[in-house]
Amino acid sequence: MFNFFLRRFARDIGIDLGTANTLVFIKGHGLVCQEPTVVAFDRDQEQILAVGNEAKLMLGRTPGNIAAIRPMKDGVIADFDVTEKMVNYFINKCRRYIGFLAPRVVVGIPTGVTDVERRAVTDAAREAGAREVFLLEEPMAAAIGAGLPVQEPTGNLIVDIGGGTTEVAVISLGGIVTSRSLRVAGDEMNEAIGQYIKKNYNLMVGEQTAEEIKKKEGSAYPQPMESFIDVRGRDLVTGLPKVISLSSREVMEALTEPVGAIVEAVKMTLEKTPPELAADILDRGIIMTGGGALLKGLDQLLSDETEMPVHVAEDPLTCVVRGTGMALETLNLINRSAASSRRVS
Ligand SMILES: Nc1ncnc2c1ncn2[C@@H]1O[C@H](COP(=O)(O)OP(=O)(O)OP(=O)(O)O)[C@@H](O)[C@H]1O
Ligand SMILES: [Mg+2]
Repeated sequence: MFNFFLRRFARDIGIDLGTANTLVFIKGHGLVCQEPTVVAFDRDQEQILAVGNEAKLMLGRTPGNIAAIRPMKDGVIADFDVTEKMVNYFINKCRRYIGFLAPRVVVGIPTGVTDVERRAVTDAAREAGAREVFLLEEPMAAAIGAGLPVQEPTGNLIVDIGGGTTEVAVISLGGIVTSRSLRVAGDEMNEAIGQYIKKNYNLMVGEQTAEEIKKKEGSAYPQPMESFIDVRGRDLVTGLPKVISLSSREVMEALTEPVGAIVEAVKMTLEKTPPELAADILDRGIIMTGGGALLKGLDQLLSDETEMPVHVAEDPLTCVVRGTGMALETLNLINRSAASSRRVS
């Protein structure tokens, strides 16, 4: 009776607990939250000061007693307590859509994570108030969210480039045929830009500045017009603030390594793809999702390197969460979809 009540009235929610962004999807309401995975924490009071957008503004700008933390690293939980509190915060923020009953939750997780890492995600969601937790592998979620026909006997190649991980997977008949998870994605690109500026200009820039440069001037393929961006940082020699002008060509050069690693991962996955499925992919093209898919020219480079058509999914940042949301409609699909997507309750 109580179960019937729960099933009838509790809202189910899908969460993309990403390294860079956390998104929440609620059955019947759609996407209700999309915020950076950042928590500002008061060390003295052991209290959370801000979560999401507000906390991201504090990154790299906090006094000694406050820490702005990114609790997820490389797609997995790096700081369990903070992650749990953050998930709790997001679930509570959506409380008016969920109602008072504990929801069932589907969470997207990278492929190739350990049992301990899976358990950490499940526990964090449970501690944060979930009644039941289902884990769905991110490339499967991304493929569903991108509208690919994952249940059909046809090959789909999905490349999800997030902040911490790049997931490459071939999906057919509702399962992952072959996949590769790489801990190189948007964060590594930011780091590469920071390193390049340090090495060539003796200038230290913050993570946020590097990300901004990537979004504004970053590219993986030569662009028709060269452009420039003013970069502010601290001179390593004098210790004083300094401004330099960085060209788009230099940013592309800085990104060579992480971008090359992503391209290589896609090629290696293709090499392991059974021929029938490879033929399907040649027909349908490679689909890119995740924020990293927005890097200018990455689709073109990948297409040149693989000699396959490449498409960026519509609204690539929300594909995974929309996928978890769509999977809520058919929770039994999750249980069938991937051998390693296991129900933990
Ligand atoms: N226009 C852009 N050009 C290049 N990169 C971008 C752009 N917009 C967003 N990004 C990058 O996309 C990344 C975030 O993508 P996304 O939200 O898909 O990651 P995530 O799901 O949080 O991470 P993960 O899946 O690895 O856990 C960040 O590194 C961000 O800098
Ligand atoms: Mg992601």
